[in-house]
Amino acid sequence: MTALNIGSNSFREDGWLNLDHPSTRYSNEQAKIDVPHDLMSDKAIALGDNTLTAAYTSHTIEHISDEFVEKTFKEVYRMLEPGGVFRVTCPDSDKLYKAYVDGDKEYLTSWVFPHPDGRQKFFRSFGLGEQLVFIVASNVSPYSKRNSDLARITKGVEVFREPEIEKILKTKSKEDALTFFTDACQERALHLQKQIAGNHVSWWNFEKIKNIMEKVGFKDAQKKKYNESDYEIFKNFDEKNKDSVAQKHYSVFVEAKK
Ligand SMILES: C[S@@+](CC[C@H](N)C(=O)[O-])C[C@H]1O[C@@H](n2cnc3c(N)ncnc32)[C@H](O)[C@@H]1O
Repeated sequence: MTALNIGSNSFREDGWLNLDHPSTRYSNEQAKIDVPHDLMSDKAIALGDNTLTAAYTSHTIEHISDEFVEKTFKEVYRMLEPGGVFRVTCPDSDKLYKAYVDGDKEYLTSWVFPHPDGRQKFFRSFGLGEQLVFIVASNVSPYSKRNSDLARITKGVEVFREPEIEKILKTKSKEDALTFFTDACQERALHLQKQIAGNHVSWWNFEKIKNIMEKVGFKDAQKKKYNESDYEIFKNFDEKNKDSVAQKHYSVFVEAKK
């Protein structure tokens, strides 16, 4: 069996190859990288066609622009053997949007983990819309300028404030509003991913992931629960990844077959 973990960071499983892009943000956490690769590049992933049994990516596609997520899914399809399986998990924008609509400040605030430097308390002081926009399109939320280093790096990038965000969320559909913010982020500030690789630039839910999976050739894209899978290799797999465990209440889980 050969399987590939895309955007692996610290998660390493026996028998799996780790693909990741070295960056200052993640260098202290990254496990050994077998396949160094920038997913936002035009290069092919350095693995052959039909060579993988399975591929997995957790909390990575939201760091990549839509165009390159489609390219990554195409690459995964190319590398998987016929019958090979692909599992994707990332923040579920349906859950985040619902929290905004319901006024669930606690859910959105807890996105930022408590830290001795008080970052969660500071995040709480932002509007619900500014919090939602930070989670899907970080560089166009005012929270992206939360300290002097980040304010310097993001200088010149115009951010949306609560009243404008509220107006856009009220007048557009969920999909159109989220796309409005992620497009603005991808147009204005995609270059910042090189310096702030932890930021998010794209929104995802089951339908959007399924559409891209099926567009590149996958069959039978299905929404799954945490730890649930139709495929032996992914049964109770999520609990092995401590970062996936920590994010499970925010996440969507999708799998498909070549
Ligand atoms: C939040 S971490 C997720 C780590 C882990 N997979 C998990 O389940 O939590 C995001 C991962 O995406 C990777 N990543 C971000 N941008 C990338 C890019 N352009 N190319 C490849 N990997 C990237 C980071 O290096 C990091 O490993």
